[in-house]
Amino acid sequence: MPEIQGFATRAIHLGYNPAEHHGALTPPLHMSSTFSFETAEAGGEVFAGDREGYFYSRISNPTLDLLEKRVASLEGAEAGLALASGMGAITSTLWTLLSPGDELLVDQTLYGCTFAFMNHGLAKFGVQVTHVDMTQLELVAAAISNKTKVVYFETPANPNMRLVDIAAISEIAHTQRATVVVDNTYATPYLTRPIEFGADLVVHSATKYLGGHGDLVAGLVAGRAEAIAEIRLKGMKDMTGAVMAPMNALLVQRGLKTLALRMERHSETAQHVAEWLSMQPRVASISYPGLPEFSQFELAQRQMARPGGMIAFEMAGGISAGRALMNRLKMIQRAVSLGDAETLIQHPASMTHSTYSPEERAAHGISDGLVRLSIGLEDAEDILADLEQAMADTHMAVAV
Ligand SMILES: Cc1ncc(COP(=O)(O)O)c(C=O)c1O
Repeated sequence: MPEIQGFATRAIHLGYNPAEHHGALTPPLHMSSTFSFETAEAGGEVFAGDREGYFYSRISNPTLDLLEKRVASLEGAEAGLALASGMGAITSTLWTLLSPGDELLVDQTLYGCTFAFMNHGLAKFGVQVTHVDMTQLELVAAAISNKTKVVYFETPANPNMRLVDIAAISEIAHTQRATVVVDNTYATPYLTRPIEFGADLVVHSATKYLGGHGDLVAGLVAGRAEAIAEIRLKGMKDMTGAVMAPMNALLVQRGLKTLALRMERHSETAQHVAEWLSMQPRVASISYPGLPEFSQFELAQRQMARPGGMIAFEMAGGISAGRALMNRLKMIQRAVSLGDAETLIQHPASMTHSTYSPEERAAHGISDGLVRLSIGLEDAEDILADLEQAMADTHMAVAV
């Protein structure tokens, strides 16, 4: 096969030759928990790491292996690791990197369960968790110290779409030899490749765009081979056991084949919807990286190939107006998660970010009126028509 260069081509072909598998176009599914050895000695060598091979699917499996290679390639990383969920990826990574007494420097806004894991979990085990507004570089420079082992952030952040400048933060973090971990769930490697901007590790909820069809829960990590091997053999093998099921690995492989196409379409439709929302008098505020009025528009242009499929907005009238709008939608589904073919709408304060206390949400920039929209792959006209009828109805209900 000729040398494969392009993103979409690698997502489809990398690491697999049908001729070596009876001509099967789709890679085989290895649903085996264990692997037999030719001899006792060979088994011992595989366990000792002196011989390549598989021995137990909590550590590695050929179906996961192919997915790991493809995601590593798409992220521009040396190696990848497939896990049971995004939280499995995040917890396995941070349990590996941190010890009691270490400091974890994190952005102000994080997905609700990541926030809970750090503040209500890691903090209990002696890790000092410090939040800083990572849009303010001078605050990061002031907060970092030689006790900072990990610098962690999402960009765009869930749910309010704040962006973090990966190159600038990585430069500051590396002055103290801290490991930079970026949650790239919202952008995917098609829009942003954090490692190319200087980050060390990328984590994903593959439940979202990488899987892409709302039919699985999965996670991934990518980074340098040595770091990934450590997360595999410590965090995943011994601490969380959060290994991905082979069937899910096959489904994520299938999702990756259309990732480039889907991200183009999500971005194109989201741009239309965001522009329309921004013109509605009943919309009080909107955050979408593709709008020129977005406060970090310049950074979005520099760091994201396209603005993506996620929109955060607030109705005039706050949460009651937001709920009224959500309840009047007919096609758009009221559901958490994101990155699916179906357009989804949810209310972070009472759903994905209810792990924060009201005071924590206020301190971390998640307003109670915020509504999160994950633009799907339906026709843009139908998404707009549903929003339009719901907004008109909301307007009437308020006017009556
Ligand atoms: C940005 C982000 N990171 C991590 C996660 C956790 O992923 P999972 O639900 O696959 O465990 C989510 C889930 O919503 C998320 O949105």
